Amino acid sequence: MLNPYSIRQDFPILDIVINGKKLIYFDNAATSQKPRQVIEAIRRFYTESNANIHRGFHHLSQEASRLYEEAHDTVAEFIGARGREEIVFVRNTTEALNLVAYAWGLKNLGEGDKVVITIMEHHSNFLPWFKIARHTGASVRVVDVNDEGRLRVDLLEEAINEKTKLVAIAHMSNVTGVINDVKAIAKIAHSMGARIVVDGAQSVPHIPVNVRDLGVDFLAFSGHKMLGPTGIGVLYVSEEVLEDMDTFLVGGDTIKEVHYRGRLEVIWHDMPWRYEAGTPNIVGGIGLAEAVKYLSRIGMENIHRHEQELVKYFFKRVEEEGFADKLKILGPRSPEARGGIVSFTLGELDPHATAIMLDEEAIAVRSGFHCAQPLHERLGFSRGSVRASFYLYNTKEEIDRFVEVLKSIVKQAP
Ligand code: ALA
Repeated sequence: MLNPYSIRQDFPILDIVINGKKLIYFDNAATSQKPRQVIEAIRRFYTESNANIHRGFHHLSQEASRLYEEAHDTVAEFIGARGREEIVFVRNTTEALNLVAYAWGLKNLGEGDKVVITIMEHHSNFLPWFKIARHTGASVRVVDVNDEGRLRVDLLEEAINEKTKLVAIAHMSNVTGVINDVKAIAKIAHSMGARIVVDGAQSVPHIPVNVRDLGVDFLAFSGHKMLGPTGIGVLYVSEEVLEDMDTFLVGGDTIKEVHYRGRLEVIWHDMPWRYEAGTPNIVGGIGLAEAVKYLSRIGMENIHRHEQELVKYFFKRVEEEGFADKLKILGPRSPEARGGIVSFTLGELDPHATAIMLDEEAIAVRSGFHCAQPLHERLGFSRGSVRASFYLYNTKEEIDRFVEVLKSIVKQAP
């Protein structure tokens, strides 16, 4: 098991005091905090190695290129990809999913084709498919969940047929923490000749993910939710799907040669540079690689188990304090079925009001729809919810304090 107390030493921000109280940071699904190692890697790059990549023979440019390229190798190894050629650095999960929609969707979708998604998706794995369907004449089928927020796999199986060209699905819900059996779903999709794109924004930072074991075609995730900097994300593109794709953003670094002799001739660059147009977020990639090394040292299985422990402890403490009936939770009660995320409403209180009261006690949570309004509405939470999301540095003592504050809020609540 991991030791959150020693891990905390690496995160300077966790020592800050707000309103005279020590910060309790439970907004990890929105963004995670950063360890010294990542902060130091960013500082080191800017003080020792900063230059543009792939654009110079001088020493610094070579050094920056090497570090940036090796960052792709580190990420590839972390998710079990074949190598850097399957790892495209983008800004975030949203950009990664849009990249699939445009580069793959525009080329492969047409009249009568179907994209299958679920009501569980956050907006970034929802809106791009409706948009690309409008461009191509394809349709989008949205598969339901049950009242506990678990995917209706029976409906999913029914929805995927020979007209289905793509299945787009979250690995872990950012609202309920429900984890989908992506490996089984990938098999169903492939058996019908469809491709599968997985939104890994919440899974890659928190559970072991191996793309080849899962058998997925695309996987999208963000660096900032996994101890890395903002502005860097990843799209894994299986080499098997590459030839089905067109280019997306084009320009500097996406090409090997450009000629104009009365007409345009282009030789596109190798993967992954073909999809990394313009000067990329070089330091972001290097910071992300450092974050990945940090997570690997701790072990993803340990992180997952630690978060499940915290969820279990939270449920237990709420029961013990006798206000479980006031806490309306989205998703299954069983921590085995979810990651370290608990979204809820408290009594009749508005979620934002609850979050503000928690903030007065220096407890940071997210409130609202968490970019997943359709799921909230489906589960009957039309005013949104409060979300506490845990990570490797959170402790049982923090949960105790959280429960204590929630209990005092309940007492004042209508
Ligand atoms: N970043 C969004 C979240 O907080 C989607 O879950």
